Amino acid sequence: MEQYIIRGGKPLVGEVVISGAKNAALGVVAAAIMSDEPVQLRNLPVISDIEILLRGIAALGAIVEKQGEHGTRVIGRPIHTCVADYDDLRKIRASYYLCGALLGKYKRAEVPLPGGCNIGSRPIDQHLKGFEALGAKVVIQHGKIIAEAERLIGAHIYFDCTSVGATINVMLAACMAEGQTVLENSAKEPHVVEVANFLNSMGAKIKGAGTDVIRITGVTSLHGSTYSIIPDQIEAGTFMMAAAATKGDVLIKNVIPKHLEAVTAKLVEIGAEVEEFDDSVRVVATKRLQHTNIKTLPYPGFPTDMQQVMATLLTVAEGTSIVTETIYENRFMYVDELTRMGAAVRVVEGNSAVVEGVDKLTGATVRALDLRCGAALIVAGLMADGITTVEQIEYVERGYEHFPQKLRELGAAIEKVDSDDQAAIHKFSYNVVG
Ligand code: EPZ
Repeated sequence: MEQYIIRGGKPLVGEVVISGAKNAALGVVAAAIMSDEPVQLRNLPVISDIEILLRGIAALGAIVEKQGEHGTRVIGRPIHTCVADYDDLRKIRASYYLCGALLGKYKRAEVPLPGGCNIGSRPIDQHLKGFEALGAKVVIQHGKIIAEAERLIGAHIYFDCTSVGATINVMLAACMAEGQTVLENSAKEPHVVEVANFLNSMGAKIKGAGTDVIRITGVTSLHGSTYSIIPDQIEAGTFMMAAAATKGDVLIKNVIPKHLEAVTAKLVEIGAEVEEFDDSVRVVATKRLQHTNIKTLPYPGFPTDMQQVMATLLTVAEGTSIVTETIYENRFMYVDELTRMGAAVRVVEGNSAVVEGVDKLTGATVRALDLRCGAALIVAGLMADGITTVEQIEYVERGYEHFPQKLRELGAAIEKVDSDDQAAIHKFSYNVVG
């Protein structure tokens, strides 16, 4: 079983370059099949979710050519089926974007119901509502979403809740519908804007992405494009917090500071120093951080994907903090794992956690229960006294490119081992080093 072994207590110092945004890249990869011409994608993150989705579009018949570590050329012309592979794609959440892409282009889609992190019920009713509003007939059968339409006709759609996935998915279908579509109560996340910008680079006519009203004029075809994915704001925020958590000094490069405003504001509030440059931020922490309260909200609020790492940072802050999760109903699974490391956190009323600052965390063997839980436990291991083993790291590798290597380059003592025996050897060597 693959694990990370971490010897904590070393400040992170140096520079790190942020990779392409996972949640933008997934929507862009799905959208790439909507053109019959070559689409050149650059700065794709090297993570398993992207690999699975690329395999999924290749299985439909698209040409998928890897070009270097972060480049891929996609040609949708040879696609010969609208039935997406079941077993592989149902492992990831974003497989459902193939529904909007195939429905938009071919007026038919058969895609597995999404998988992904177990952080709540994660319904897709708003996706289906949007497809039906455009004129599609949608059924759920045998674990699949089956959508088809004689024609897709533009519609005025009001989302009952702000949903990143539904906004992107319905935008994919609507950009090749006939006439005007208006999406109200749309999600405003940077990755929504990124997918709209990519579609527009292929000739779509989408306006207002990044606001809560998106207006789309359908087109009959989309041409090829060359596109580079924006930096991952969640990876950047993770490194910002890891720098603060270890009382380090890190320059985080290839970021869009505006996308990090909520995280920056909170880090400054609790006593870290954050210096912003055009495409980088520097985080320095020298003294014990202070408590604060966190409430996750849709963008531009504090991101739910940063809640776990922020709570970890607060476990050793001065005072008591309250963390409230408003997006998902089950995103505190990491709390029990942090408790093994000496954290004093208790979940109250299901969507809030009370974090009482303790002097220090101590190393332990813990399990990554989902992607961001894994990131939080790695940061906890970097902060803790002694050795931490993080198991089930396949979750982490879904969303963080070369995470151990990037941390080692900042001075962290972290190794990936793929067996219990190797873990024992590393633990011994770390203990010997002391
Ligand atoms: C995307 O998930 C991200 N995943 C998530 O990141 C992120 O946490 C989330 O957006 C919010 O920012 C990808 O982009 C692949 P939502 P998504 O639809 O699209 C409810 C990570 O760690 N809802 O905005 O699934 C839903 O239950 C992952 O990188 C409905 O009720 O999120 C949730 O409570 C985790 N009906 C809330 O809306 C729907 O039809 C937000 O979900 C859709 C959503």
